[in-house]
Amino acid sequence: MRVFSLSEADVAYPDGHRALMSFSLEAGPGDWICVMGPSGSGKSTLLRVLAGLLPLTSGEYERLGHRPQGKVFLDRRVAFVFQDPNDQLFGGTPLEDVVWSLKKAGVPHEEARLRARAVLSRLGLEDASLRPVLNLSMGERKRVCAAAALVMDPEILLFDEPTAGLDPVAARQFTRALEATARAGMVVVRATHDVSVLPSRVKRAVLLSRGSALPGVFHRPAGGRSSWPVSPTATHTK
Ligand SMILES: Nc1ncnc2c1ncn2[C@@H]1O[C@H](COP(=O)(O)OP(=O)(O)OP(=O)(O)O)[C@@H](O)[C@H]1O
Ligand SMILES: [Mg+2]
Repeated sequence: MRVFSLSEADVAYPDGHRALMSFSLEAGPGDWICVMGPSGSGKSTLLRVLAGLLPLTSGEYERLGHRPQGKVFLDRRVAFVFQDPNDQLFGGTPLEDVVWSLKKAGVPHEEARLRARAVLSRLGLEDASLRPVLNLSMGERKRVCAAAALVMDPEILLFDEPTAGLDPVAARQFTRALEATARAGMVVVRATHDVSVLPSRVKRAVLLSRGSALPGVFHRPAGGRSSWPVSPTATHTK
């Protein structure tokens, strides 16, 4: 069974810049996929396409049994965590932010507060849950965004640079919390430069270079991160 399938995808921005070229990717239930590549290679563009925020210039996209009908192709079962948390957070406190996501989906206020508190605490934000978002560090804001996405228990979680702004210890803790919070069957696509803290559930990596996939999909053999067959820096061909 396929959760999504992107085939021969091309994306050109309005200024003519081609950010994705003939790019194909499929995911089945429970797949955790890492998208790697240098800055400007098209990782965020790809995640915006998968989120349904950016239409294809050409190619095919099918997700959870549907194909896009218009320019925007949204679905409550798909959560997107932006690269920059400031694009996502609207202020207030982390608790308000996470509760807002749930209430928008029709969850009653008290239940929303309970669920929001639980996910914030799993992501290590219990003490920060009532602080103004504007006062939080970049890493803390990133975790608030993750909490707002995970609390919806999505079928597809798209995560742009999840560990950016976190120190190595915080990045590892966060990655473990993400693994513990994401239920079985959830598809996770993660765009990242930082492969030192990949969740053990990531078994597949695709490498982007200037909008195109480098040949092959890289599968992680059993045994951990040292056995990755490629180094992401080796893909920097500019
Ligand atoms: N709105 C836009 N209009 C025109 N070009 C854009 C736009 N957004 C991105 N681009 C270009 O598309 C290319 C891919 O950008 P993208 O943000 O997807 O890269 P990225 O791999 O996520 O980079 P980074 O690692 O720096 O986040 C870049 O050359 C970028 O300049
Ligand atoms: Mg990016």
